[in-house]
Amino acid sequence: MYQKVPRRDSLLRLHSHDFGPAEEAAVLEVLRSGWLTRGPRTQQFELEFAARVAAPHALGLNSCTAALHLALLCGGVGPGDEVIVPALTFAATANTVVHCGATPVFADVLPDSQCIDPASVERLINGNTKAIVPVHYGGIACEIPRLQQLAGQHGLFVSEDCAHAVETELDGRPVGVASGSRFASYSFYATKNLITAEGGMLCCRDEADLERARVIGLHGMSRNAWKRYSGEGFQLYDIEAAGFKYNMFDIQAALGMVQLAKLNANHARRTELAALYASLLADDPRIEIPQAGADSVHAHHLMVVRLSEDWSGSRVGLSRFEARNTVISALREEMVESYVHYISLPGTRFYREQYGTAPSDCPVAQSVSERVISLPIYPDMQDSDVEYCCLKLREVLDGVE
Ligand SMILES: Cc1ncc(COP(=O)(O)O)c(C=O)c1O
Repeated sequence: MYQKVPRRDSLLRLHSHDFGPAEEAAVLEVLRSGWLTRGPRTQQFELEFAARVAAPHALGLNSCTAALHLALLCGGVGPGDEVIVPALTFAATANTVVHCGATPVFADVLPDSQCIDPASVERLINGNTKAIVPVHYGGIACEIPRLQQLAGQHGLFVSEDCAHAVETELDGRPVGVASGSRFASYSFYATKNLITAEGGMLCCRDEADLERARVIGLHGMSRNAWKRYSGEGFQLYDIEAAGFKYNMFDIQAALGMVQLAKLNANHARRTELAALYASLLADDPRIEIPQAGADSVHAHHLMVVRLSEDWSGSRVGLSRFEARNTVISALREEMVESYVHYISLPGTRFYREQYGTAPSDCPVAQSVSERVISLPIYPDMQDSDVEYCCLKLREVLDGVE
């Protein structure tokens, strides 16, 4: 038994943003500039972001979901096609395949990294497969070279879901298009490492993909609003496709540029916090932590711990799933917010009913999804907050019979 620590008064949130005076000033500047939506700041942010992730091209959008969708459309995914996605991911990775009229096919994940398992991907490839959408789970780099090799052998394209992975690197290079994939999609949602409240970026290797995404992401109009109204002279638009309204606006871009300037310092702090968690939990056999591979940089977007099979399988009268949920509720009583990333998608109602999937389709993802808990991590956290979380986690595990 560990000594019980007094309960805190304030809730330790799972995520917390670090917006301050610089973000406030940036937003105010846009409000006073006379140009609110997609315009000069979005263009500037696209250039700065592309440089950060070593991408030839970047397109600012209103979400990562929009970016994932546009990548599939630009790659020609449509009815009759299959796209392989990991089972352990946020719904948008698979939902965007459905939005194209295609079928998402779920690959299992690796037990160590909880990223997509290339051997599972290989087994699922058939004549209808068009693309692979790997997810860098929590900021851990996927086995991209192996996935690209499979894609090359079978004429597929790779569209990386980099929602958690702005800082992730593999073999000394940022993941995403810098590592050779055709597309990479980033999220700037309120809980991410670089935030614009809502927002996303699509990075592409080829200019033709960028131009296609730009058109489809703005109603299918052949000229975007910035070009129509700014100094390039009169140009009448045409409609090339029944496109979508996905553009980023300049308020988001202004926030994004301030956040980008803080990214390295924030990432260094996340790395310290994750190391502290790992050292404080290392001696507890009930707790496992997903591991990044050698020669990679972990973005530490999520601080995921996993309850061991032994512990969670031996709680009297509780399934593994119930035991984990009990731990989350008890942590909340102790003023620690935690969550589940993710419910394995083949077990969710929509995919079961519409695509006939079952939790057992991807056994590793299913087992992991019943045992994972994401703990608080954000740059403003104090070391003492991490110590509190770890002590409370041990206390709670002691208390769940
Ligand atoms: C893995 C993953 N992919 C895609 C998304 C979608 O991002 P957005 O909310 O920016 O559309 C998220 C968001 O949480 C995510 O975690």
